[in-house]
Amino acid sequence: MHSFRYVKGQLHCENVALADLAQKHGTPLYVYSQATLTDHYTKLDQALAPLDHLICFAMKSNSNLAVIQTLANLGSGFDTVSAGEIQRVIAAGGDPRKCVFAGVGKTEEEIAYALRQDIYSFNVESEAELKRISKVATRIGKIAPIAVRVNPNIDAGTHAKITTGTYANKFGIAFEEIEGVYARAAKLPNLRLRGLQMHIGSQLTDVKPFQLAVTKVAPLVARLSAKHGFDFFSVGGGIGIVYQDALASGDAKWWQSKAGKRVLTPQLYANTLVPLLKPLGLKILLEPGRFLTGNAGALLTRVEFIKKTGKKNFVIVDAAMNDLIRPAFYDSFHEIVPLKKKAGATVSSDVVGPICESGDYFAKDRPLPKVGEGDVLALLSAGAYGSVMGSNYNSRALAAEVLVNGTQSAVVRRRQEIAAIWENEQTVSW
Ligand code: LLP
Repeated sequence: MHSFRYVKGQLHCENVALADLAQKHGTPLYVYSQATLTDHYTKLDQALAPLDHLICFAMKSNSNLAVIQTLANLGSGFDTVSAGEIQRVIAAGGDPRKCVFAGVGKTEEEIAYALRQDIYSFNVESEAELKRISKVATRIGKIAPIAVRVNPNIDAGTHAKITTGTYANKFGIAFEEIEGVYARAAKLPNLRLRGLQMHIGSQLTDVKPFQLAVTKVAPLVARLSAKHGFDFFSVGGGIGIVYQDALASGDAKWWQSKAGKRVLTPQLYANTLVPLLKPLGLKILLEPGRFLTGNAGALLTRVEFIKKTGKKNFVIVDAAMNDLIRPAFYDSFHEIVPLKKKAGATVSSDVVGPICESGDYFAKDRPLPKVGEGDVLALLSAGAYGSVMGSNYNSRALAAEVLVNGTQSAVVRRRQEIAAIWENEQTVSW
């Protein structure tokens, strides 16, 4: 489900009118729904009930402490990619022993830190990294739990910048090389070969690539597990969400775009994968990010000006690519709706931010209701890879974030003070 809907012509998140939040906290403002986070986690958890499983939320998609806390309270583990993310889990009250640590460039300091926190497993991306982990673990007297990331060479059919499972990218170790790598890893000191991991890409709206990848990798897992005594197999993240017409689809059909295109549901995912995974008899890890947080968030932004040129109707808003870079970076579509429902004809509009780049846009030639200065708009499905990818470009402060729970709301990140942008900088004396 998602919890953004019009009630008496006013867009709400759960039972809170977004106009009230925009008024109180200003814009740009990220708003997250705790009910959606909980619902999506629970749906996935229940669908996987036939398996011994652990959901490790890919916190790169949204690492706000309150989001982590919400999921930690539901029992979630975390897929982390830096020592900073592990520290965030601990700061939010999550359990580092339920953390996996991925990434192609782990430093010795990060490895030592993760070992001291007794993380669940390192997801290892190269043989050089295996050697490094073994060396650090030996030095500090720890046994490092590891899983090698297999690259199954399956094309997930998503955007080129977010596909990861083919040999044309930097992730994992080729399928054909894996057994040799484990045989050599078994000879390295202070490693415990605990499992195998894969991840084929992000925003997959079809179950087929998952099915192909698991079908290909499961026999390898079984062979390796027989040799090395695995605990787990991680199938990674990547479950896609609806971006187009998410609001129009409403609660009941949250998985379906208005055009009727059905995307992946937890049930369809589980129905397809559980029969392939169950016979392994291992714990199954999942690393969903976007599925848990994407539709749980919106970015509110105020219209500053309407500018008409010979060719275009520009709606200039106070949010920019530094707040939400997805349209500029991936040509991503985010549904844009006014907080106050508007009837009447639509106007083909470009929604743009104030940053000095032509790439600073949220929509191009989009039919939008006629909006004017001061109206507040919501960019939907902005809960994943939204605020986390924010920057201070153009010395713009990072947006504030609010979490809604029923009729309650709380600021879970204060708007950055302008002077805080350069607080770590200094002028020189010469
Ligand atoms: N596991 C691994 C190893 C990953 O690399 C990722 C995402 C995930 C799990 C979570 O994937 P998800 O369930 O969220 O699809 N910034 C891009 C997406 C980058 C994804 C990076 N890796 C975007 O805005 O679309």
